[in-house]
Amino acid sequence: MAKKRILSGMRPTGKLHLGHYVGALENWIQLQNEYESFHLIADYHVLTTKLDTSEIYNDSIDMLIDWLAAGLDPQKSPMFRQSQIKEHTELYLIFSMLITAARLERNPTVKDQVRDLNIQNITYGHLGYPVLQTSDILLYKGDAVPVGEDQVPHVEISREIARRFNQQWGEVFPEPEPKLTKFARLPGLDGNAKMSKSLNNAILLSDDEETIKGKLRKAVTDPQKLRKNDPGRPEVCLVFTYHNKFNPEDVDEIADGCRSGALGCVDCKMKCTDGINKFLSPIRDKRHELENNMNYVKDVLADGEGKAKLIADKTMSEVREKMQLG
Ligand code: TRP
Repeated sequence: MAKKRILSGMRPTGKLHLGHYVGALENWIQLQNEYESFHLIADYHVLTTKLDTSEIYNDSIDMLIDWLAAGLDPQKSPMFRQSQIKEHTELYLIFSMLITAARLERNPTVKDQVRDLNIQNITYGHLGYPVLQTSDILLYKGDAVPVGEDQVPHVEISREIARRFNQQWGEVFPEPEPKLTKFARLPGLDGNAKMSKSLNNAILLSDDEETIKGKLRKAVTDPQKLRKNDPGRPEVCLVFTYHNKFNPEDVDEIADGCRSGALGCVDCKMKCTDGINKFLSPIRDKRHELENNMNYVKDVLADGEGKAKLIADKTMSEVREKMQLG
């Protein structure tokens, strides 16, 4: 049986942080061995909240370098920019007729964004971006979409649109399933539930050792553990969440030490810094290597865009044929 296909993507906002890795990238890297994978740099999606496009290309390249440094393999996972494959916008137009404005207005992820960014009057394109995302997924007939929790409502919209298209014009598209990561989202250094560059509470994949040390030193811990030997509560401490991910062998010992008061926050943070640095060290090395070999990085993109274009063409011919738009 043919391998199932994955399509997933991220908005290019420049260098990635550990939250991106834990929430999505790690999953992509594992799944590329099981699935036929396609990964998209969602540059048009950036326009929903930012019209200054002067950095989009550089941000896209920075993100691509992080993908590669973390272990996405271009042989297994073509990577490409959404804006370079014109079929995305073509399919998006057709799909936009298959969903009501009221349905899009009910989307909780878009509602949260409108609230968080304090948007007074949402644009037509912003409201409809899950439809563009649907075209991203279905153009490649993605069966599975590995994303974070916040993207699940969008994948549900994709399923509805796929069903609607297939009913109207005949079977073309699969109904894609979201594939969540095992690890919940990583909290930010300030204790916010979400790590985010704009909240300035993130550890970047490209941060050097000293930077990480400094960031962790300032990280929020259990407010009840004021002095070194006070007993602490690992379950409320974000540093402990990081230990869970980056020091899995030592978590029991760390939790015991924290609870009993034997382990102080300063030492605990040092251990955490070491764990994160150990994890990031090979990624950092690979990143430097890639930064010194930009021709290779550009080739990866050109190759990915070539492969994506072939599939996009094929799907659009099928769509046009079914719709008798030949
Ligand atoms: N909307 C996603 C985000 O904001 C990015 C994205 C665009 C995406 N197209 C996609 C994710 C297709 C999965 C599949 O992060």
